[in-house]
Amino acid sequence: MAADHSKYQRVVILDYGSQYTQLIARRIREQQVFSEIIRFDTPAEELRRNMPKGIILSGGPNSVFEAGAPGIDPGIFELGVPVLGICYGMQLMSQQLGGKVEPGTSREYGKTEMTTEPENQLFTGLPEKFTVWMSHGDRVSSLPEGFSVSATSGNCPYAAIRDEKRRFYAIQFHPEVVHTQHGSAILGNFLFKICGCRADWKLSSWIEETVEKLQAQIGDEEVVLGLSGGVDSSVVAVLLHKAIGRRLHCIFVDNGLLRLNEDRQVEEMFRAKLGLDLTVARAAQRFYAALKGVEEPEAKRKIIGREFINVFAEEARKFKNCKFLGQGTIYPDVIESSAAVGGPSQTIKSHHNVGGLPPDLKFELVEPLRDLFKDEVRAVGRVLGMDPELLDRQPFPGPGLGVRILGEVTEDKVKLLQQADARVQEEVRKLPDCKTIWQTFAVLLPVKTVGVMGDQRTYEYTCAVRSVNSIDAMTADWTRLPYETLATISSRIINEVRGINRVVYDISSKPPATIEWE
Ligand code: XMP
Repeated sequence: MAADHSKYQRVVILDYGSQYTQLIARRIREQQVFSEIIRFDTPAEELRRNMPKGIILSGGPNSVFEAGAPGIDPGIFELGVPVLGICYGMQLMSQQLGGKVEPGTSREYGKTEMTTEPENQLFTGLPEKFTVWMSHGDRVSSLPEGFSVSATSGNCPYAAIRDEKRRFYAIQFHPEVVHTQHGSAILGNFLFKICGCRADWKLSSWIEETVEKLQAQIGDEEVVLGLSGGVDSSVVAVLLHKAIGRRLHCIFVDNGLLRLNEDRQVEEMFRAKLGLDLTVARAAQRFYAALKGVEEPEAKRKIIGREFINVFAEEARKFKNCKFLGQGTIYPDVIESSAAVGGPSQTIKSHHNVGGLPPDLKFELVEPLRDLFKDEVRAVGRVLGMDPELLDRQPFPGPGLGVRILGEVTEDKVKLLQQADARVQEEVRKLPDCKTIWQTFAVLLPVKTVGVMGDQRTYEYTCAVRSVNSIDAMTADWTRLPYETLATISSRIINEVRGINRVVYDISSKPPATIEWE
């Protein structure tokens, strides 16, 4: 279910495939204006039905000269709504409106100083010169009628252009990235001075409206929800509970691959503290049996995924009156699964994919977080009074410790890794900047080495510690944990966890390594 945002003023972003498109949407929402990313080929008539206050054309990897380069419905320029073209959006806009674009002989990439013209709404309140971030090949060489120059840079005579009468603006640089100085102020000028937006996108009112919408959608029916203990499903659970109370049935699958005491913590938090109807499906032995003798990582992932669906389906069937399935789908998942350029893509994250449920389980979906970014989901959680520790949790993979025990997974190895990992977590939590770390965890290697303990020879497992910093998990660098912390982790694991006699630290970045070892 997507909440109805028709009450809010909105700005739409036509997506031309830039890696920064989501960032534009976030920068706008940070200024409390609701923004939506839509397909580049959205017809003007569709926009007219729920007229946006402003339209942004994003950047993109294409050249306007390429055959099949993504275009725009010319009717969009007839809507009477302000338009801001960014990078590819600028070139497309110029070409559409009668200007000229010339193919770039070389790419301009990186920071450059820009000089603005006076009396320029987009740059109101900004210094005459400041640094902007460029990334383009082609560039505008002759302006469309009605346009004038707003800013120039060494390499770019038309770094920014405008037609104030029609309220069309275009910039060759990216205001959404941090390398551009005053980027948020530029977007703010577009939103508030040019489009006349109000800053009315507030999460507290979003919550109230979403709860009302959920009540209207669900009526007297019941909802079943897979609770993983992660941020998204936990916030959905609390939101749905607020809307329909104990007609929400949460199912938590204990797959035997969780961190130490995680099942207890989930029970305590959601059942005891928050009063949710929670079923814990204790299925550890079933997962261990299915994983017996299996070493290949993908095979393990598939088995864990399959068993999860089976266990969840068995539990869900017990709630005979459930018509709805709650899901923690968030906005990046939605964009990911219907990438604008090249049409809807096939990639739906497996843990958001209900296509896997058996055919007798026919649910309607309830996805109240569909419109929110991850930081907004956390903010909703905070407004709902949820425990900050839960909201700031590090990501944990669906297959859990199953992909952190290399090779065959057994109950004994799970217990060993849980103990080692708990020590890693305890020590890293003591660091003042632990919240800036993306993920820290222990990995159990299928390698035994010789050691000495007292006068005894030992021959035991090796444990690897992995800690990475990352913005979005696409790339990651290993964390420079203090030597003291590493030393304490190592001596605690070796002294306190029987079965591990050697600890190594993983110093690989992603790429070429991945964050998880399997
Ligand atoms: P990799 O190992 O591909 O991981 O660098 C990137 C991020 O995704 C997490 N991850 C998963 N999350 N189900 C999930 O929900 C999975 O199967 C899965 N595999 C990896 C990983 O922890 C990291 O944050």
